[in-house]
Amino acid sequence: MKTALTLSGSIRKGSYNRVLQHHVGRALREAGVSVTDLELGEFPMPIFNEDLEKDAVPDAAADLAELWGSHDIVFIASPEYNGGLSPLLVNTITWLSRQKPSPFRHAVFGVGGVSSGKYGTIWGLSHLRESLTKVGTLVVPTLLGIGPAEAAFDEHGDPTEPAIRRKVEQMVTELTQFSRG
Ligand SMILES: Cc1cc2nc3c(=O)[nH]c(=O)nc-3n(C[C@H](O)[C@H](O)[C@H](O)COP(=O)(O)O)c2cc1C
Repeated sequence: MKTALTLSGSIRKGSYNRVLQHHVGRALREAGVSVTDLELGEFPMPIFNEDLEKDAVPDAAADLAELWGSHDIVFIASPEYNGGLSPLLVNTITWLSRQKPSPFRHAVFGVGGVSSGKYGTIWGLSHLRESLTKVGTLVVPTLLGIGPAEAAFDEHGDPTEPAIRRKVEQMVTELTQFSRG
């Protein structure tokens, strides 16, 4: 059975990206994938600084690297901050990019995001795709950008727009077809 991790680059209470994370997690389960929904808040890491690497690599970096490296699919729901990524996500990817063996070489990655603006994280997702590609991942083609956030989900946490639901289906198809497990 294929395995997947989902995570959100926002850990705030009421995060829309966490809603998207869990929606995609449910969709992957319906497709027969064994899914673990991660909370990045449970993997605390200091702001990356090369000096810290000498003797204080956080346990969370090693633990998360092990998880990313051992699952077939990783889905990241990413908020857009100032046209880029959240500090949490940048810091996480930075720490993980320094772990060995690389946690980026096995899983196929999917990226999506929810923002308050109507452009739905398209700038942020470009940064995320580029950064993940740079460290060696295969990122599937569908970009699941969603906005404005307030009207995007119903009370069950499912997308209100049929076009978004179809995009989630497309994302799940790509993630399951391109992954190796
Ligand atoms: C520092 C900061 C920068 C932001 N920059 C953008 C932006 O560039 N584009 C956008 O659409 N929304 C932007 N927003 C609004 C976020 O899209 C909104 O807060 C969203 O709900 C964050 O995701 P979350 O609900 O998962 O926490 C920004 C919010 C913050 C706090």
